[in-house]
Amino acid sequence: MEVLKIGDRSLLYPIIQGGMGVGISLSSLAAHVAGNGGMGIISTAQIGFRDDDFYKNPIPANLRAVKTELDKARALAAQVFEKFKDSNRAAKFLDKLKDYVPFIGFNIMVATNKYADYVIEAVKAGADIIISGAGLPIDLPELVQKGQEISGNEKKTCIAPIVSSRKSAKVILKMWDRKYKTTADAVVIEGPLAGGHLGFSYDELHELGADTMASKNYKRDKYDAEIKEIIEEVRIYEEKFGKKIPVFVAGGIYTKEDIAHAMSLGADGVQMGTRFVTTYECDAPDDYKQTYIDAKEEDIVITKSPVGMPGRAIRNDFMDRLKEGPVPIRHCCNCLATSVCDRKTIPYCITEALCCAANSDESHALLFCGANAYRAKKIEHVADIMNELTENI
Ligand SMILES: Cc1cc2nc3c(=O)[nH]c(=O)nc-3n(C[C@H](O)[C@H](O)[C@H](O)COP(=O)(O)O)c2cc1C
Repeated sequence: MEVLKIGDRSLLYPIIQGGMGVGISLSSLAAHVAGNGGMGIISTAQIGFRDDDFYKNPIPANLRAVKTELDKARALAAQVFEKFKDSNRAAKFLDKLKDYVPFIGFNIMVATNKYADYVIEAVKAGADIIISGAGLPIDLPELVQKGQEISGNEKKTCIAPIVSSRKSAKVILKMWDRKYKTTADAVVIEGPLAGGHLGFSYDELHELGADTMASKNYKRDKYDAEIKEIIEEVRIYEEKFGKKIPVFVAGGIYTKEDIAHAMSLGADGVQMGTRFVTTYECDAPDDYKQTYIDAKEEDIVITKSPVGMPGRAIRNDFMDRLKEGPVPIRHCCNCLATSVCDRKTIPYCITEALCCAANSDESHALLFCGANAYRAKKIEHVADIMNELTENI
């Protein structure tokens, strides 16, 4: 059985668990996905929010947590992988298992304040990959190189941009080519059904039927055409650099049929977020997971995030309260670059709202989710989900 090559690393199953902040994809979720043959991604968004010093010195607390979470994930993934190796599912990879190292990396949003420091810290910690969206990661190759030089790590950290259109794929791949004579190790295409911040305007979401009740309104063929275009663009660079650049489709992938559909468009794999939230191993608190299970499709709405981008979330009291006016910021962590977040005019603080979600303070919480969150009926084990999803792979 052939496995997917990403840079000089291999991945047993072409499934990335998408980075989810704040506190949704940390070491536990990433380790279980990676230990079961997928790619586990830790989100650096306020990754140190449980550190005692977080509210006083958020950035140092976050930077410390980058290494601690990765170390924890590596140790746990090794244990999970031992179990995987004993399972029937491992049989077809027999010759690949001896040297296989569970694939674990970070999602670092470009809009993050001190983005460069997070990237360098992740490389120093020994991340297998850095996946970056919420802006175009123009300087990512240079920052990874710098981290590599500081740390002396021999194995190169792979880089993958998240794009939503052919235009953004073209811009970032062209820039990396011109400025650094390099290209991506993988590309993630994030579509309009994804969770968290979305790389689309309200009008674009509406035109694609992805703003509300997506199960009946979503114009899948329309965005599928864009996915094919993006893949075409990536293949140009694949040819130019003489290396495989696997493309992963994200947003609304929930079942093995969804995976098969993404592959039929020419993708090499998928990135999934929402499906992994309702697992025992997900780092979110239990009541967060329960809101997914209780949600009906009409509860899943598009909201305006203070950073100006639309985001998808489950409607709750906090969102209703926002309609009455701005919610004062209690404590600014300087989490976002000032060009992205204007502290004086924002309707609420995104970090506070996401940290409240991760700390079970539902009345102040913003509950990010993908368009499929209402489909969860029970809490599952990551191993069972991976088993189900990879039946035909
Ligand atoms: C709760 C939640 C938080 C998320 N946070 C981030 C994030 O911090 N950075 C990011 O690039 N994507 C984030 N995402 C997007 C996921 O990584 C993933 O690409 C997307 O949700 C895929 O769509 P799906 O949820 O339908 O599978 C988030 C998604 C969810 C559901």
